Amino acid sequence: MTTTTPTNTPTATAKISVRDVRKTFELKGEEFVAIERVNLDIADNEFVTVVGPSGCGKSTLMNILAGLETPTAGHALVDGTDVSGPGPERGVIFQQYALFPWLTVRKNVEFGLKVAGLSRAERRERADYFIRMVGLEQFADALPKMLSGGMKQRCAIARAYAVNPSILLMDEPFGALDALTRVKLQEQLLDTWSREKRTVMFITHDVDEAVFLANRVVVMAARPGRIYDVIDVNLPYPRTEDVRLSPEFGELRNRVWHSVYHQQPGVAAGTASN
Ligand SMILES: Nc1ncnc2c1ncn2[C@@H]1O[C@H](COP(=O)(O)OP(=O)(O)O)[C@@H](O)[C@H]1O
Ligand SMILES: [Mg+2]
Repeated sequence: MTTTTPTNTPTATAKISVRDVRKTFELKGEEFVAIERVNLDIADNEFVTVVGPSGCGKSTLMNILAGLETPTAGHALVDGTDVSGPGPERGVIFQQYALFPWLTVRKNVEFGLKVAGLSRAERRERADYFIRMVGLEQFADALPKMLSGGMKQRCAIARAYAVNPSILLMDEPFGALDALTRVKLQEQLLDTWSREKRTVMFITHDVDEAVFLANRVVVMAARPGRIYDVIDVNLPYPRTEDVRLSPEFGELRNRVWHSVYHQQPGVAAGTASN
């Protein structure tokens, strides 16, 4: 548990800034606090993972940044401007496969490009680039029903990338996959990210996944949903199997695990310094 949060201090250069965000829902006539006092800055091209117990408000935080929910109080800023709805600079990937079942992989990836007004040739070139990047070139003409769960998520990642967002918001995108597929997709996502850097906020409830992917792990706590801890991951990229099996990875994993599973009631990151 940190007593100060130097890595969580607002800076002028932040790509994403969350300032004193609170979100309440009405539940049976009573106000229910989903998240409160959430402060977080994410730098350009930083890969931040958010981990925490079910119901701690991870999706609520992401939906606010995606522009799908509005904060009850506080501000969610992208490039210094308040988020006022969804936008093309923010690509969103959910756990459920949000592919159009009647469109092929290529047409799914091209979809947002058509909306953006690209010519047929440009769409094709751009879609094929990202389809190759996620290794689905053999399946470009296949319908989603012919793909495994992991392939569907790779298609969703290619589709999100194709419209060239500067931010990727991912809500447990590998949550429904088996452990082996998950590990492969983690490596592939990092490979894609290292070639095409973006600012990423990736939500997971898997501690290993949180540490393996991130520059920084944000641990949330429930009742009320809040940021509990922020942990820097100073492990080198590319994150190979050697990194995953290293003692340094083990130490960070234990630290995050402890922070997720032995949470002290009422504690929030930065409370001791505020
Ligand atoms: N639209 C909503 N109406 C009422 N309560 C909600 C709504 N969305 C989320 N909540 C509640 O807010 C809390 C946080 O939910 P969520 O952000 O989905 O958590 P997580 O993604 O960490 O599991 C939960 O207790 C959930 O039941
Ligand atoms: Mg969720």
